[in-house]
Amino acid sequence: MTRHLKMDAPDRRHRLDDMAQGVIGTALDRPEGARKVTGTAPYAAEWQRDDLCHGVLVRAPATKGRLTGLATEAVTAMPGVLAVISGERMLRNPAQGMANEAPVQGAAEIAYFGQPVALVVAESFEQARHGAQALRLAIEREADFAIDPEAVEPEVPEDKQSSSGDLDRAMREATHRIDATYTTPAHSSAPMEPHASIAEWDGDRLTLRGSYQMLKFNRNELADSLGIDPQNVRILSPYVGGGFGSKLGIAPEAVAAALAARQLGRPVSVAMTRPQVFETTMRRSETRQRVRLAADADGRLTGIGHEVLVSSLFDEEFSEPVTQATPFMYRGENRVIGHHIARLNRTCAGSVRAPGEAVGVTVFENAMDELAHQAGIDPVELRRINISDEDPSQGIPFSSHKLAAALDEGSRAFGWERRRPEPGAVREGEWLIGMGMASAFRVNMLMESESRVRLNPDGTAEVETDMTDIGTGTYAVLTQIACEMLGLPADRVRVRLGDTDLPPASGSGGSFGAASSGTSVFLACEEIRGRIAEAVGCAESELTLTDGAAIAGNRSTPLTEILGGSSIEARGHVEPGETEDTVRQATYGAYFAEVAVSAVTGEARVRRMLGAFAAGRILNRKTARSQCIGGMVWGIGMALTEDLVHDRRHGQIVNHDLAEYHVAVNADVPQLDVLLLEERDDWANPLQAKGLGELGICGAAAAVTNAIYNATGVRVRDYPATLDKVL
Ligand code: MOS
Repeated sequence: MTRHLKMDAPDRRHRLDDMAQGVIGTALDRPEGARKVTGTAPYAAEWQRDDLCHGVLVRAPATKGRLTGLATEAVTAMPGVLAVISGERMLRNPAQGMANEAPVQGAAEIAYFGQPVALVVAESFEQARHGAQALRLAIEREADFAIDPEAVEPEVPEDKQSSSGDLDRAMREATHRIDATYTTPAHSSAPMEPHASIAEWDGDRLTLRGSYQMLKFNRNELADSLGIDPQNVRILSPYVGGGFGSKLGIAPEAVAAALAARQLGRPVSVAMTRPQVFETTMRRSETRQRVRLAADADGRLTGIGHEVLVSSLFDEEFSEPVTQATPFMYRGENRVIGHHIARLNRTCAGSVRAPGEAVGVTVFENAMDELAHQAGIDPVELRRINISDEDPSQGIPFSSHKLAAALDEGSRAFGWERRRPEPGAVREGEWLIGMGMASAFRVNMLMESESRVRLNPDGTAEVETDMTDIGTGTYAVLTQIACEMLGLPADRVRVRLGDTDLPPASGSGGSFGAASSGTSVFLACEEIRGRIAEAVGCAESELTLTDGAAIAGNRSTPLTEILGGSSIEARGHVEPGETEDTVRQATYGAYFAEVAVSAVTGEARVRRMLGAFAAGRILNRKTARSQCIGGMVWGIGMALTEDLVHDRRHGQIVNHDLAEYHVAVNADVPQLDVLLLEERDDWANPLQAKGLGELGICGAAAAVTNAIYNATGVRVRDYPATLDKVL
């Protein structure tokens, strides 16, 4: 039996508040944590299969052109080499996925440097690598590739432009106005676990052990690439070493491994190298953003303009939704939003953690800091007075909105009152000290999700769904929801994830995973509770499940007795409904940073950083905090170092590994503080929880660059704020 919920409106019949276990929200350790830290949780490339052979991708050393020939025979004659796989369908990543469509991979037309064109398969990885290096490609190069977003005529998609009121007039009449253009560079998702797949066929059934975020979509993508029925595809991704969007859609290694395994009748493993991940999976687009702010003498916004230029690969549907949060962030009746897309011969653009807000809110919050300085208003106060009572673009209410609380509690906890407003006022020897802040905004989404829960005769429970845990804490959170609802301790609940044979979940992405898959588990457990209530003869609302017993009235019955040797199984299924049109659902927060900038070298060091976040009910305080910290660490990287550089002459990515693409590491990051605010959002789902995973990055970098301005008086509008720009 399945309990369904279409989220059309808050529904008080489905509410978590009636439960009394107190498990949800606690800092439960990850149930799979010990397996991960002892190396016994197998990641994609670590599965041992009998008769396994290895494939290595061969990529085009050209940015644009045609592949006219492959010297296959010389390579197949090499020791251990089993096959060279190539051809039109070869590595195609189809356009029906949820994001990251790259329709041209593997085709003879070369559209970007590093595009996969073949796979060399051998008995050992070393033999395959040797063969891949030796494979001669005949390529007709074209020199007129497009690599510079400023040098091409952009597309201007009609449905992505909007305006209301008269912004030009608002700018003319404003007491304070900002009109500035900012740039952010391309970014790489850089997950710790590189993309890898092991494909194995049993007749016409394919099993793929991979590292993916959205299994039900990935299964369809893979089936479509291979021209087979999705029913014949099983994907296993029980552990995923980070994705950050790069594993939302299948990557070339999955299709290549499947084709090779089918041809050879043996399991084939294809693991990408770090440069391959950088060049052939996807990137976050670089952006150019013009922000206009018009404000009256009190700093109240009367107009907002946010016009952006991003880039995507030719024919790609996705483009970085930079202005996604702009419509609802602040007041201001005169508005212009613009979205331009440059089609470039660069690696496919895709969703990288918090697509849109990560770069859009960051730049906007940098402009807000400029306005605060010009108007002589405290930056926190400027945000506070511009909070709107309702979504100013749609005229609909917010489901819940805690920006004011995040600003208040965050600034108090950080000690914001000690900030000196004039730049360059605080110096400690060589170091200039400054404080900066920014608001955080991220849209909230619910995705269709299904799960199955079984209460076993021995009083244990199993939760099953093809949901993934990409390091976010899904195993822990789903365990907690089942414990809460069924009155069981954590060690009596087992969660199975990452297998397309299990009920199809939302997958992990867009911060919707925990709330969507968690709601499906909640509903399945509700259904089980209903069956237990029936068995003990009480209404579901009068039933208490605790310590493995059912309490109704003054009677307590052990679950094992009620079950009487059989199990109870139920499914939960949730889908989005009309709430998305009735209210604006989003998450909010505020970041505060203190930096020290060397007056000698221009080097900026983050000394302290604090984020205050509100995202509805917090499901697990430990994993939630970790997500926020992860986002803020990335914000520090975005502010100071991260910059995916394309060579304008040859088109390749210059810094395609972690030695040259500088993510923030331990030495760059001080102790970070996270405040999680209490909030319940009845419109979001029965858990009253909103998405938190990406909120920590949605503006974080601006707190750092705004602090650099406060320290030095240097306004960096061209991210990252490297020494040359600060000095
Ligand atoms: Mo996310 S960038 O939607 O995995």
